[in-house]
Amino acid sequence: MNDSKIELRAILSSLGGLLGSENDLIVRTNREDFVHFKSETDGHYVIMGRKTVESLPKKLPNRKVICITSDENYKNDKCDYICNGVIQCIILLEELKCDVAYVAGGELIYEQFSPFLDQIIITQFDTKHYEFDIDEGKELKFVPYAMTDAMLNMRVVQTKDIEHGQIIYYKRW
Ligand SMILES: NC(=O)c1ccc[n+]([C@@H]2O[C@H](COP(=O)([O-])OP(=O)(O)OC[C@H]3O[C@@H](n4cnc5c(N)ncnc54)[C@H](OP(=O)(O)O)[C@@H]3O)[C@@H](O)[C@H]2O)c1
Repeated sequence: MNDSKIELRAILSSLGGLLGSENDLIVRTNREDFVHFKSETDGHYVIMGRKTVESLPKKLPNRKVICITSDENYKNDKCDYICNGVIQCIILLEELKCDVAYVAGGELIYEQFSPFLDQIIITQFDTKHYEFDIDEGKELKFVPYAMTDAMLNMRVVQTKDIEHGQIIYYKRW
């Protein structure tokens, strides 16, 4: 439960429960989902694990990226702040007088932030449209159970159809 005044919103996309493969997104070609991520997070703090930060092609414009890492000397031009864990991140957001922040992956970060989330914004891609080969040895990342659990304490407040998918907005009761 998030007792601070900061509204924490997870934003993610899933293809039948899959989030990513080989430190890349599971679907990286859906233009509408890309535009949705950009407009939703525009001007906000975005929280990411170190591996997701490293998977970005470039720094996200007009967003402040907080990278979660255990390496206190970590440096990367694609992030603005570093933090050693969830509680430290929430304390930092309070110091920054942040009111809304987006939790943007990956799997480990979604899992640990799940109990603190106020909203979950999930794009469910159409599994009939996107094919995915689950090759042996591929590193796969999934929507964590903790997030599915968090959804049980939320209600769907909005849905939006996009090409080959649907965006679902969950909000805590
Ligand atoms: N579909 C989507 O919406 C979506 C969104 C984002 C990412 N993804 C995908 O998710 C995958 C990456 O997820 P991932 O789980 O492998 O990695 P991740 O969550 O991005 O990053 C993991 C790293 O975060 C740091 N970390 C996590 N918890 C920590 C804690 N409590 N304290 C300190 N540091 C902590 C550690 O960094 P150090 O090793 O430096 O300590 C850890 O190695 C990629 O495939 C990516 O494309 C998908």
